[in-house]
This record gives sequence, C-alpha cells and structure tokens, in this order.
Amino acid sequence: MARITKDNLIFEYKNFFLKEYNSNPEIISAAPGRVNIIGEHTDYNQGLAIPAAIDKWIITLLSRRDDSYINVYSINYKKRKKFNFNQLDTSEELWERYIKATLFVIKSEYNLELGFNFLIGGNIPIGFGMSSSAALEVSIVSSILSLCSLDYDNYKILKICNIVEKEILGINSGMLDQYASIFSVKNKFLLIDFSKIEHQYFKNDIQGSSWILINSMVKRNLIDSEYNNRVDECREGIDLINKKTKYNISLNSISIKDLDYIKKQKNIYNRLFHVINENHRVRQMKNELVKGDLNKIGDLLNQSHHSLSNYFEVSCKEIESIIQFSKNHSAFYGGRIMGGGFGGSTINLIDNNLKNEFIAYVKSEFYNEYNYKIEIEEVCFADGLEFVTI
Ligand code: GLA
Repeated sequence: MARITKDNLIFEYKNFFLKEYNSNPEIISAAPGRVNIIGEHTDYNQGLAIPAAIDKWIITLLSRRDDSYINVYSINYKKRKKFNFNQLDTSEELWERYIKATLFVIKSEYNLELGFNFLIGGNIPIGFGMSSSAALEVSIVSSILSLCSLDYDNYKILKICNIVEKEILGINSGMLDQYASIFSVKNKFLLIDFSKIEHQYFKNDIQGSSWILINSMVKRNLIDSEYNNRVDECREGIDLINKKTKYNISLNSISIKDLDYIKKQKNIYNRLFHVINENHRVRQMKNELVKGDLNKIGDLLNQSHHSLSNYFEVSCKEIESIIQFSKNHSAFYGGRIMGGGFGGSTINLIDNNLKNEFIAYVKSEFYNEYNYKIEIEEVCFADGLEFVTI
C-alpha cells in the first residue's frame, strides 16, 4: 500500500481549507508522531529515552480572523466547532478538549485575544501509542506562535504542551512525545536526557533489518488509563526512599541497592526497578545501535518488554499474544510494547529478508486467536516539526 506523503496531505487539506473558509491558510504546521526505540516510562522520572519521529503527521492549517471566534474543522472527525476565545470551558469530546486546552494555555501565556480559522487533520492512528495527541498540541501551538510572531523557541513549545497536559487536562505525562515531535531529525536517533531537558543525536542506519510496528488495535488514551497511577507510584517510591535515607535525590540518581528501603512495598518496588533498569538499557541501546548489533538490540527490546509487562505492568493480553507470536518467528530479533501501554502497538526489529513472511504470520496467528485483524507496517523515520508559510 502506498504511503501518504506529507506534501499530499498538505495539498489535500489546503483544498479543504479553501472550501471551508473561502480563503487560503496563512500558515501550515506539520507535527509528526513518534516511535520510541527504548526508554519507556522514564521521561516523567527524569530518565532517558531514544525516540524518533515517523512519517505520520497532525497538520494544522491556520489563518487569523477579525473577531475573537475560533472555528475548527476536524478532517478526521468530520466535524466543525465554533466557539469564542473567552469560552474555553471543558467539552465532551477528547479532540475538542485537547484543542481548547491548548488554546487556553496559549491565551494565558501570551495574553492573546485573536480569533482563528483552523483546519486540523492527519494520518497518525489515534490512541495506538504513536502520540497523535502530542502532535496535535505541537502543531497547534507552533502554528499560532509562529503566525502571530510571538516570542518563542522549540523549548517554549515543549513547555506549553506540558502545561496543557498537566495543568489543564490532568495527565501527569512527561515530555517524550512532544520532544520527539519537535526535535527529531530524519535518519538520526534522539537520545533525550529528561533530567536536563537536553538531547544528542546519533546516526540511525543499522543494516539488514527493519523496524516494524504492530498495532494491537486495542485503543487507550492517557486520560482514562492507569497512566497517572504509574506516575504516582513512582513518586511515592522515590519519596519513601528519600524519607528513609534522608537523601534528597531524584529517580535518575538512585541505584537498585536503594530499592532495599522499599522492599516490602512490592508494586512500588517493581515500578522503580523497571525505571532504573530501563535507563540502563537506554545507555546500552545507544551503543548497540551505533555498532549495529542486531541480536543485542533485539535482546534489549525483549528485556524492556519483559520489564514493562512484569514490573511496570502496562501490557495487556493482546499485546502479550503479539509478542509471543513474534517470538515464534525466526525473523524476530526483538520487540516490546511501546508508549504509555495498556494497548496500542509493539515496536519490533525484524530481519529484512523475512519481513513479509513475518508480517503475514503474525497477522494470521492473531486473527486465529482473536478473530479480528491487526495492522502491521514498517516504520519510516521522518523529520520533526515543520512549517509551510504561505
Ligand atoms: C506516553 C506519554 C509519554 C511517556 C510514555 C511512556 O506516551 O505521553 O510522556 O510517559 O507514555 O514512556
């Protein structure tokens, strides 16, 4: 199946915009979704991760209005909404809540009173761990700040998105998704250190294998999932250790030995056990990716999955079956559940020569057990946030 390019999406959406608003957009912003090679549930624990943007985007087309009304047309939901900048209350549908929350934060950060015509669409599957909501926030924030020539840089976009999630939507998420959407560079991996909010790039050109995404089609979103509980458990763990030891350190500086202080709190122990080891795996992964050692990369993915499933407990039965079927095939170097968890997708490293057989095998095994079709596709890496000024 041919992949949709960003240019094609933009071309199609520009026509929609013209039809909807009888004028051209003034700016277009394309924010990609992401995969995460490794480093799961480490971002809100000041840890490390290696994500990369993929060739799926949320695209915002925007123009200013003379009044303070906000018009939004959503291509994906085929719905239009009209509201006033001063009526940014909560509303039922999630996509609308994200948009309103984002506008609310921009308004309060910049004291902005303008009205806008928006057209928003994209091809990132919603709710499957590829960060469609983060891309939505990034594309809205960046398009408005740029169009209105407000004072900002990429870190400011990151900060605004984080305020939207934490303070308005009540998700205690880290910055992994938005960071990847903004800062990625095609054919490079991004190693992010969330304790310092800084990153480094290293080359992404391992040979002989492909990254494959397997979408379990089990939908989840961060607002309604157990995600916030995991964040709380990690905080509780670190607070307990600090209280018992009189340290005042964050999770990225404690060691496995420090976990002895919380041995009796089994769940909390397990959560921190995952985070400490996952950070370690991120460091190892960087070395193996640079060397291109496919077996070792695969092992690290498998270890990460084992930990996410057994210690962090963010997997589900469909994902476990996918991992099991994948392991049965000789093309599989390794794979793991990706993103917030409780459904969504797995990311896998697969031998190029046997890729098609692998895909057919996992699809058919899954169908035999669950009686519905899953989607499997190869990852195509992409650049981070881009603008088109008209
Ligand atoms: C979701 C969140 C991220 C991160 C991952 C887990 O994608 O949005 O901030 O916590 O889960 O690594």
